[in-house]
Amino acid sequence: MKLTMRLGERSYDIIVKAGGLGRVGQLINLDRRALIVTDTGVPAEYARTVAAQCGKAKIVTVEQGEGSKSIAGFEQVLTAAMDAGLTRSDVVIAVGGGVVGDLAGFAAASYMRGVDFINCPTTTLAQIDSSIGGKVAVNLGHTKNLVGAFWQPKLVVADTAALDTLTPRHYANGLAEAVKAGLIADADLFELFETEDAREHIEEIITRSLVVKKNIVERDERENGPRAALNFGHTLGHAIESREGLGGVYHGECVALGMLPMIDDSKLRQRARAVYKKLGLPARVTYDGDKLMEYLRHDKKSGAEGVKTVRVRELGQHYFQFAGFDELRALAKEGVR
Ligand SMILES: NC(=O)c1ccc[n+]([C@@H]2O[C@H](COP(=O)([O-])OP(=O)(O)OC[C@H]3O[C@@H](n4cnc5c(N)ncnc54)[C@H](O)[C@@H]3O)[C@@H](O)[C@H]2O)c1
Repeated sequence: MKLTMRLGERSYDIIVKAGGLGRVGQLINLDRRALIVTDTGVPAEYARTVAAQCGKAKIVTVEQGEGSKSIAGFEQVLTAAMDAGLTRSDVVIAVGGGVVGDLAGFAAASYMRGVDFINCPTTTLAQIDSSIGGKVAVNLGHTKNLVGAFWQPKLVVADTAALDTLTPRHYANGLAEAVKAGLIADADLFELFETEDAREHIEEIITRSLVVKKNIVERDERENGPRAALNFGHTLGHAIESREGLGGVYHGECVALGMLPMIDDSKLRQRARAVYKKLGLPARVTYDGDKLMEYLRHDKKSGAEGVKTVRVRELGQHYFQFAGFDELRALAKEGVR
């Protein structure tokens, strides 16, 4: 399946295909220097498959986990780019999950004020969501994505066969972002989770989720308005993620939990919980309300009084509503536990 993100001169193709990693060189010029960024948890053969198609490739392998999405990880990648002699006409290629994509993308945005970036996502989360849209970042301390840029890739190749090596927990984690896409904009996608086996329909799930995100990003690349819909579940989700210490509860799991209080209709909330259980996502969490609020007050999306939240009133439709910090606390108490 091929989609095209239409953003004028920053447009690019998104390929969703089993075996795609072996075909990157047929889709874009790789006859140049390439820095391939991967991590220690991604099977090494994936990066080697891409490297074999490049004119001159160097692979840099960061430690797996959210900890590498840091200033230290960023420096490691930039230093590798410099040591590899990358010039402005060369390319940085991510082969990994959202951590590698966000890190490599931010390095590509910054190195020599910006070089080409290709994203080859290998997790469900990255194939369903993080590899498109151009948000790249690293964390600062425990604060998620505080330092980053908008830097669109030149090409995205999602090889669905690469998902076969994921742990079941990571596989389910990424599906949370597809459930999100269904809840905010595609009722049929949500219902597919209720009636079918997700693994058997993974290409359709990835493609439908990407279409939801693509349609929104094309209208609002820099998140001045409608793109904020993609943050559904992320306000409380990020707060839970930070409270747990980065990496303890996975990103998608936190988003799944963060979405529940933002679903107005209790019957739909129960349906979402049932989908989470079917997929192996957490449906309840205990938390310290004071710590959650402390994080929310420091979130980069928060104002002095509260946060603009994304809500779902009925399946496939969302709206925006401002919520004060006290209201958020009450919502979280009702919906997350
Ligand atoms: N930029 C965006 O728009 C955006 C959107 C959503 C999430 N994110 C970010 O994405 C990150 C989470 O991404 P993630 O869930 O992919 O986590 P991840 O990148 O940490 O990958 C999860 C684990 O799976 C391993 N792995 C990756 N591919 C594999 C494969 N094919 N087989 C076996 N193991 C594999 C990795 O080594 C890692 O240990 C978070 O930092 C989050 O903030 C970014």
